[in-house]
Amino acid sequence: MFNAPLAPFPALRPRRLRQADWIRRLTRETVFTPADLVWAIVVHDGDEARVPVPSMPGVARLSVAEAARTAVEARALGIPAIAVHPHVDGAKKDALGTEGHNPDGLVARALKAMKDAAPEVGLMCDLALDPFTDHGHDGLIEDGRILNDATIERLVELGLMQAEAGADVLAASDMMDGRVGALRAALEAAGRTDTMIMAYAAKYASAFYGPYRDAIGTAVALKGDKKTYQMDPGNTDEALREVALDIAEGADLIMVKPGMPYLDIVRRVVETFAMPTLAFQVSGEYAMITAAAQNGWIDEDRAILESLTAFKRAGCSGVVTYFAPRAARLLGA
Ligand code: PBG
Repeated sequence: MFNAPLAPFPALRPRRLRQADWIRRLTRETVFTPADLVWAIVVHDGDEARVPVPSMPGVARLSVAEAARTAVEARALGIPAIAVHPHVDGAKKDALGTEGHNPDGLVARALKAMKDAAPEVGLMCDLALDPFTDHGHDGLIEDGRILNDATIERLVELGLMQAEAGADVLAASDMMDGRVGALRAALEAAGRTDTMIMAYAAKYASAFYGPYRDAIGTAVALKGDKKTYQMDPGNTDEALREVALDIAEGADLIMVKPGMPYLDIVRRVVETFAMPTLAFQVSGEYAMITAAAQNGWIDEDRAILESLTAFKRAGCSGVVTYFAPRAARLLGA
């Protein structure tokens, strides 16, 4: 990186560049802005405007009407996009996740209401079966095994429905093999050539999703774990193979998830593929920061901005986070 050796101390005193705010700002390498945010929300199919999620202080499940208001708020705050995750009534769940592609269901209604309210705001929709299955898995199950190819057929149905309802980006978070290619082919065949696919290419089997499973109501339902489809936390070369496959199949955006514990993966992915790469500051990361702050153990505002800056420094072009509106306001939006 350097073609000349650094001057030795005292010629070079790095602290000179830190002595005052103006010079720190002038030499700052990474600046996080509201344009780097994707606002993660959870919607529910009840009438109550906001149902607080206990394990995520400050986050609530939103009614469809409230989700539409959120889109308007995102636009006002300069947040480019919202990532939608559904919480469906347990009575609507079955083994096949049939409710997932209901064209009059929660997801379709939320997407339409948000698009109508603020068409300029990008809508990413979580694409997976787990909010709709009574077993809480992202795939169909036979004899205790998660079926890959049969699940893809279902995901394609969900994806087409979501695109029809107004999703700009299908956020495939299921980790089945080959689903990006199948989605891309189906979108092309349906004339939806502009619909983007964000591949959760490197999604790890993580403890940090715990509060989310509370939020969308799958914590109780989930039998077993997701280790046969989500990645092992010890792996990094495998993440590159996953990303390579998804790019070859037609992914427009790459997602690494969870976020902060996996910034090394972000860095490798960005350096290897030069593709727009996002990371998800997941529910457990949100809960850690808010819980510590509630105990007075860390300064919440500073921790939010520092964590987001870390994502950007690692190479992310955007961060999906439940902190999005807070962060936008802290940044002066
Ligand atoms: C599942 C999905 C998960 C999240 C988003 N989509 C969790 C899981 O795999 O169980 C996690 C989001 C978060 O923790 O904030 N398709």
